[in-house]
Amino acid sequence: MKAWRVVLLFSLVLNAAVTSLEEEVSNSISGNLLHPLRDLFDYKDDKNQSFAKFSLRKPSQPEDDLCYIVPGQPESLAACTFNSTSKTFLVIHGWTVSGLFESWVAKLVSALYEREQTANVIVVDWLYSAQNHYGVAAQNTKAVGQEVAHFIDWIEETTNMALENLHLIGYSLGAHVAGFAGSHATNKVGRITGLDPAGPDFEGEHAHGRLSPDDAYFVDVLHTFTRGTLGFSIGIQQPVGHVDIYPNGGSFQPGCNLRGALEKIAQFGILAITDAVKCEHERSVHLFIDSLLNEQEAGKAYRCSNSNTFNRGLCLSCHKSRCNTVGYDISKVRRPRNVQMFTNTRASMPFRVYHYQLKIHFLGNINRSEMEPSLTVSLFGTKAEAENLELKLEEKISTNKTYSFLLVTEKDIGDLLMVKFKWEETNGWSASSMMKMVSSLWSGDSDSASVKVDKIRIRVGETQQKMVLCVKNPETRDLTQEVTFVKCKDAWRTNSKRSPRRITLGNH
Ligand SMILES: *[C@@H]1O[C@H](CO)[C@@H](O)[C@H](O)[C@H]1NC(C)=O
Ligand SMILES: *[C@@H]1O[C@H](CO)[C@@H](O)[C@H](O)[C@H]1NC(C)=O
Ligand SMILES: *[C@@H]1O[C@H](CO)[C@@H](O)[C@H](O)[C@H]1NC(C)=O
Ligand SMILES: *[C@@H]1O[C@H](CO)[C@@H](O)[C@H](O)[C@H]1NC(C)=O
Repeated sequence: MKAWRVVLLFSLVLNAAVTSLEEEVSNSISGNLLHPLRDLFDYKDDKNQSFAKFSLRKPSQPEDDLCYIVPGQPESLAACTFNSTSKTFLVIHGWTVSGLFESWVAKLVSALYEREQTANVIVVDWLYSAQNHYGVAAQNTKAVGQEVAHFIDWIEETTNMALENLHLIGYSLGAHVAGFAGSHATNKVGRITGLDPAGPDFEGEHAHGRLSPDDAYFVDVLHTFTRGTLGFSIGIQQPVGHVDIYPNGGSFQPGCNLRGALEKIAQFGILAITDAVKCEHERSVHLFIDSLLNEQEAGKAYRCSNSNTFNRGLCLSCHKSRCNTVGYDISKVRRPRNVQMFTNTRASMPFRVYHYQLKIHFLGNINRSEMEPSLTVSLFGTKAEAENLELKLEEKISTNKTYSFLLVTEKDIGDLLMVKFKWEETNGWSASSMMKMVSSLWSGDSDSASVKVDKIRIRVGETQQKMVLCVKNPETRDLTQEVTFVKCKDAWRTNSKRSPRRITLGNH
């Protein structure tokens, strides 16, 4: 079953239940799910009509369409004061039910002018073709993309503008419109940014049938809603650019509370879900706006094979362009294969966080395994402190093994001076915790008394600093209480294959 039919099926089911909610959700992306019947009987025949309009917006009125550039009418360029030596942005929206621009469009236009004052920010209006049942709107992306390509060809011919100055920014279905525009334009455009490109009908498609790295000199993509629930993912999961960044693993964006909404559907009804879905999908746009407005606070993303490895802190290196800047100021690194990168974010602007890898070796005289303590860390730096941060366990803990964790702070704490580390037993009547209780009664020993930590190795993603913190008072390294670690002289142990010192003693 094609993905959009799944969407339709899902929507029909919902539609039966919540028709009265239609009005309220009509402006939300997933509001479309509740609104299919009209479109079923109202297919538009777009075959040989042209529906893309090109509105050059003004910095002073970013929300208004005051002047359209019309292909074939060179005088419209002058009338709209198109500047052919400046950067030109084409902002391309996605699917719509309301037939109106969503509020992010004006915000993005405004942020682009904030950063590039002399730019031409052109909003591509294909609302008429986008206001359709999803499957039809998805099919329309190709024709609209071809029309945008004609526009690009005409404007290049007419003004001699350099296409490296042309940057297409497409959201959701608009990302694929940008892809088709790039692939059909006679000459290659400079850059395409895909903001959570749409998944249904494009996932797994051949590169010609979706946004792909072939469509521009540089294609960068932000994936914010790539979760396969209900048989489809609203955002495309596969990498489709030169650099594909998956903030927060590409799912569950902080502040959107989709997880909570899914759990509390009975309590808050379907609206909780639609809002959360829109929030996650549209987060890609706001991350990009953030990168335009808060240049000094740009977030960093790190190359990693998958999000589990990233969540264990194992990918915070910037060696050989393994890290990059999120959003507008990304370095245009082009490799033969897609590069997947990960980053974490805050719940609101500025979204940037600081990433830390903590490597901890848990020593014990008694073999223990299957421990699931709750681990809390406080970081104290030269500028600020970040207290009571939870270390997420990606696996259960055994003694005499080294574990790696990812930790993020929302603020810049400066240079790290001290760490406080707390191990707490989790209460729960699971079989394993019963076993732990029994065994600790037997041995007269609690888990934490039998586990020690001597040092914590830390790598900071944002500064690329590496350091070792040693237990401050060796008598109190038992994890029965909070343990303090301070900077010490031990070298960070690298496992670099190129290290010439790997045969020296003590580096096992
Ligand atoms: C539609 O396409 C046909 C040929 O495919 C053409 O003859 C006709 O003029 C087109 N109509 C419009 C409105 O462009
Ligand atoms: C056009 O843009 C260039 C640089 O992007 C700028 O120097 C020039 O002043 C602009 N021209 C006008 C008429 O605004
Ligand atoms: C763990 O390692 C320490 C030091 O290397 C050793 O003394 C201890 O016996 C080991 N514990 C277990 C359970 O093997
Ligand atoms: C701990 O377990 C390992 C392997 O599971 C074993 O080699 C070692 O001897 C054990 N140590 C003690 C102190 O039981």
